[in-house]
Amino acid sequence: MARSAPHHPFAAIVVAAGKGLRAGGEQPKQFQNWRGKPLVRHSVEALLAQGAEEVVVVIPRGFSDFAGKILSDLKNVRTIMGGKTRRASVLKALEAFADMPPAYILIHDAARPDLPPEVTQLLLEALEEHVGAIPVLPVVDSIAVADGDMMSGKAERETLRRVQTPQAFRYDEIMAAHRAWDRESEAGDDAQVLKSYGREVCLVEGSERLKKMTFAEDFLTNIPAVRIGQGFD
Ligand code: CTP
Ligand code: MG
Repeated sequence: MARSAPHHPFAAIVVAAGKGLRAGGEQPKQFQNWRGKPLVRHSVEALLAQGAEEVVVVIPRGFSDFAGKILSDLKNVRTIMGGKTRRASVLKALEAFADMPPAYILIHDAARPDLPPEVTQLLLEALEEHVGAIPVLPVVDSIAVADGDMMSGKAERETLRRVQTPQAFRYDEIMAAHRAWDRESEAGDDAQVLKSYGREVCLVEGSERLKKMTFAEDFLTNIPAVRIGQGFD
């Protein structure tokens, strides 16, 4: 795959230590096959192809042999054991870089296999000016606030955004923000951790391709895309 000339050095974390309960299956979703290879490989390969100098993949306890096997041929990839929550997994991965801290770090869900290089470029460009940057998409439906199965109010859709990953940060700042976070409570995502640390987060345009594989149905698009001009027989 061609490298898309990055002008900023960066490293990446792929969080793959979840249980994938909503997707079900014999293995956690990040290890299930999608478009011909284990889901986690897609995002790791994309990040390397887009210029990541090193990728730390956070994997669940009990999967180190398996994860080692499916990633062993990739250069500049390390696997480490994850924590109980996504945030704990991210913190362990950030600490794995402490010896040789990169300037920029991208934190990405293994569950989002299709990472367009344009999004990575926008994030890295935003980091030239900002401490943190995240990809977002607008909300198209109107939004109801639920109280059980009754509507209790509405929210203004114009001010809302759907948040994706990778989330991009200056390494020192996100490391400090995670270390300062009250360990009792779970954060929604890394951008929220940075924001509660008092830093601003820039919003860049995300992509529908960055959809998070969540349910078993999401794996039904397992068939490689049919190319135009290619017969069906
Ligand atoms: N993740 C992680 N460590 C955890 C929980 C989640 O590294 N303790 C990772 C998942 O592997 C996934 C990403 O965070 O790549 C986003 O989480 P999600 O889509 O919710 O995955 P799971 O938590 O595995 O799935 P579910 O919530 O359905 O159990
Ligand atoms: Mg989860």
